[in-house]
Amino acid sequence: MKGIILAGGTGSRLYPLTKVINKHLLPIYNKPMIFYPIETLCKAGITDILIVLGGESTGELFQLLGSGKKFGANFTYKYQDEAGGIAHALSLAEDFANGEKVIVLLGDNIIQEDLKIAVKDFEKSKVKAGVFLKQVSEPERFGVAEVQNQKIIQIVEKPENPKSNWIVTGIYMYHHEVFDIIKTLKPSDRGELEITDINNSFILQNALKAYYLEGFWTDAGIFESLFNATVLARESYLKRRSEG
Ligand code: DAU
Repeated sequence: MKGIILAGGTGSRLYPLTKVINKHLLPIYNKPMIFYPIETLCKAGITDILIVLGGESTGELFQLLGSGKKFGANFTYKYQDEAGGIAHALSLAEDFANGEKVIVLLGDNIIQEDLKIAVKDFEKSKVKAGVFLKQVSEPERFGVAEVQNQKIIQIVEKPENPKSNWIVTGIYMYHHEVFDIIKTLKPSDRGELEITDINNSFILQNALKAYYLEGFWTDAGIFESLFNATVLARESYLKRRSEG
């Protein structure tokens, strides 16, 4: 399976931090933000990785990451000309995927968990899409899943009145058909092609599987979550160090 990291967008919710610096270069404790999703993929055994870049200081991001050699990985890059949404950024990966299944991570998502078991499960599974759910205290900031008997029946993007506190994190696994679905999408009210519309389309086909994250998860897209990500990353680093 191939990996894709989406690191476009404008980071506007973190202005002025992101006025001249790409959000994914901001520090999360002792590393730049983008190191976390890269290391998550590498830990799961996925080393053929496309990174979609966009927004400010992409040259510096490219310079920082290079060929991928220092991560034991092989990086390919695509440039997203405008912040057309997560699904738009993903559309740029069609040639890279070349018919294979893919795992997609948002560049501002930070997790503790090893995804190896879920990746293996999805590789041999007949379902066409997989999403990772987590319970959070502020679901209205995210794509919220309505779950019945462990199955997702609908996902609503940033609802005013969330029907649950289970949210869809920025980790997705897809069959190649995802690229055909993206071609049918229309921009949402915020003018973006939405990843939630892709996932709802797979729900309609009864082809989406929910995986549940047990370790910590956070995004780092607003000041509070950026701060929280640093706290969690620090705790995790110190715990690992004390365990030797
Ligand atoms: O973090 C999980 C959430 O991420 C999900 O629960 C939501 O369903 C999903 O829509 C998304 O919500 P956000 O509004 O928080 O996404 P944001 O616009 O902050 O973008 C997250 C990452 O996606 C960002 O770090 C880079 C990438 N991205 C985003 C846009 C808009 C791109 O690569 N290109 C883009 O055009």
